[in-house]
Amino acid sequence: MSSKVQELADPRRQAYVGELGKLSVRMNKIKHKIAVVSGKGGVGKSTVTVNLAMAFAKHGHAERIGILDADITGPCVPKIIGLHGQQIQSGPVGVFPAIGPFGIKVMSMGFLLPSDETPVIWRGPLRMKAISQFLSNIVWGELDFLFIDLPPGTGDEPLSIMQLLPEMDGVVIVTIPSEVSQIVVKKAVTFSKKLNMPVIGIIENMSGFICPKCGLGINIFKAGGGRRIAKELRIPFLGSIPIESKICEASDKGVPFIVENVNSPANKAFMKIVKKVKRSLKTKKAQSQEESE
Ligand SMILES: Nc1ncnc2c1ncn2[C@@H]1O[C@H](COP(=O)(O)OP(=O)(O)OP(=O)(O)O)[C@@H](O)[C@H]1O
Ligand SMILES: [Mg+2]
Repeated sequence: MSSKVQELADPRRQAYVGELGKLSVRMNKIKHKIAVVSGKGGVGKSTVTVNLAMAFAKHGHAERIGILDADITGPCVPKIIGLHGQQIQSGPVGVFPAIGPFGIKVMSMGFLLPSDETPVIWRGPLRMKAISQFLSNIVWGELDFLFIDLPPGTGDEPLSIMQLLPEMDGVVIVTIPSEVSQIVVKKAVTFSKKLNMPVIGIIENMSGFICPKCGLGINIFKAGGGRRIAKELRIPFLGSIPIESKICEASDKGVPFIVENVNSPANKAFMKIVKKVKRSLKTKKAQSQEESE
């Protein structure tokens, strides 16, 4: 049992342990759970989470995908997926996720706050209790994949959330190609190791820009850093997503990019990543079956 649980006084501790049990039962109905992490903020983690989830939905899993926006203090998945301001339903069994494109189920603190300006201020053991209550009350139902957009960085908050979520398949690390970002990828790998969590692979976002007018390619944040660090750390490289102004425009409008830009290079990159992730999960399953025989 984690030290966070031990920190709580007895009656609160019992309630907390009960919540963790409920969370575990709910999570067991989800076949695969993948957390999206980054060593630092602003590299496109939320954008990648939403579009990757959508790419999976398009790849034969419509209505069987969920996104948990676990960025408790800065939730922005509802905005990116076009569910900003959505009212969610709740009942005796818990709260029901909002439904986005392709029937994707989305849950975010953003749905529970009275306004965009309301900050979430939870401190100390109460904070853990509030987070575990939030997570354990979500009624996901049966899903093939749940993607978890963690808070930026590798600090206490993402760590605590990951400790609460049981039986994850692993993490996908999002980075940009610059050297500074490569250094923080190592932190994300250490973070995963600390949690005993496999690294499914690295995605290089904001990987080059092709001018839509002249077709000239420009490597704004350099190029190939993601692949290089993946090789150095012996971690699978899942793919590169270029900078496309339409990605940013789509997120701001709440029209998920993948839905509207089927033939764009970024869209094709997302679809390739889906295949790689699926292959990796299949291999892991075969390996664990072999080990248990
Ligand atoms: N490949 C891309 N091309 C163009 N714009 C992008 C791309 N990836 C992300 N963006 C834009 O970059 C900004 C930051 O992206 P996003 O919010 O997904 O980052 P984040 O890593 O989740 O940030 P935070 O650390 O604050 O959670 C957004 O405006 C998003 O639309
Ligand atoms: Mg984010």
